[in-house]
Amino acid sequence: METINSADQMNALSRELRRAGKRIGLVPTMGALHEGHLSLVRTARARTDVVVVSIFVNPTQFGPQEDFSSYPRNLVQDAKMLAAEKADFIFHPTVDEMYPAGAATWVIVEALSEKLDGRSRPGHFRGVTTVVSKLFHVVQPDFAFFGQKDAAQLAIIRKMVRDLKFDIEIVGCPIVREKDGLAMSSRNTYLDSEQRRQALTLYRSLMRVQFMADNGETRSSELVAAGKQVLGEEPAVRLDYLEIVDPDMLDPLPTLTGPTLAAVAAYVGTTRLIDNIVVSPRR
Ligand code: PAF
Repeated sequence: METINSADQMNALSRELRRAGKRIGLVPTMGALHEGHLSLVRTARARTDVVVVSIFVNPTQFGPQEDFSSYPRNLVQDAKMLAAEKADFIFHPTVDEMYPAGAATWVIVEALSEKLDGRSRPGHFRGVTTVVSKLFHVVQPDFAFFGQKDAAQLAIIRKMVRDLKFDIEIVGCPIVREKDGLAMSSRNTYLDSEQRRQALTLYRSLMRVQFMADNGETRSSELVAAGKQVLGEEPAVRLDYLEIVDPDMLDPLPTLTGPTLAAVAAYVGTTRLIDNIVVSPRR
C-alpha cells in the first residue's frame, strides 16, 4: 500500500490504471477510521481491482463553531488498518492541494443541501459536494463507496453524480453498529462513558419508530412523536431533528407508503450524532 499526497501524482496514476483496464474503487473518508469505514473498504475490495481510500479532513464542510481543529486525526493507525484490509492506495492531500490559493469554485446541489443536516449545518453539504467532486476528478474512480449512516449525504451525492454526469457508480453501504446498536462514528470517540450510554437513545428512538411501523402505524406524525418521546426520556440529549422523509428527495412524508427514511440528529454534550433506519409500512 502506498500513500500519495499530490493530486497530480494521484491523477496520473489513476489514468495509467484505467488505461491498463483496471476498475478503480474510491472510499472517501476523513480518517479516524472504524469498522464502518472498513466495511466500505471490504466492499470496494470485493468489487474493484484497485482500492483508493482518501483521507482528508475537509475544512469547508465544517461550520465556524464546529470541530474541524479537534476532529480526530491518526494517519499511522488508519494506514495500519487499511493495510490489513489490503487497500492499494491512500490519497492524503494537504488543504492547499485540494483548495489552491484563491480557489473560488463550489459545487452546490440546490434544495437538497438545505434539508436535514443541511438545515442545521449551513454550508455543510456545499463543502461535501465540492470536495467529493474534486476527489472524483483527481482519482477518476469507476465506483465510489459511501455509508448509509450519512443518508442525506448519500442522497445528495447521488443527485450530484446524476446532474453532473459523472461516470461513477455510487455504492451505498449499510450502517455498521456497535453490539448495543450505536451507529459507528468517528465522533463517538468524543463521548465519555456516561455520554456513550446517553447516545444510545438515538438508536432506541429509531427502534420505537420501527416497532410502531411494524405494528401497522403509518402516520408520520405518530411515528415521529413516539421517537421523540424516547429521546425526551434522556434530558442530556438535545434533539436537532427526527424526521420521516423520502430517501431521495429528503422531503417529509405524511404517511408511510413504501421504504422511507427515519432520520435523527441530536447533541450529546457538544457532540452531534446522526443515525437513521429505513422503515416500510406493514404488509
Ligand atoms: O463522510 C465523510 O466522511 C465526508 O463527508 C466525506 C464524504 C469524506 C467528504 O469529506
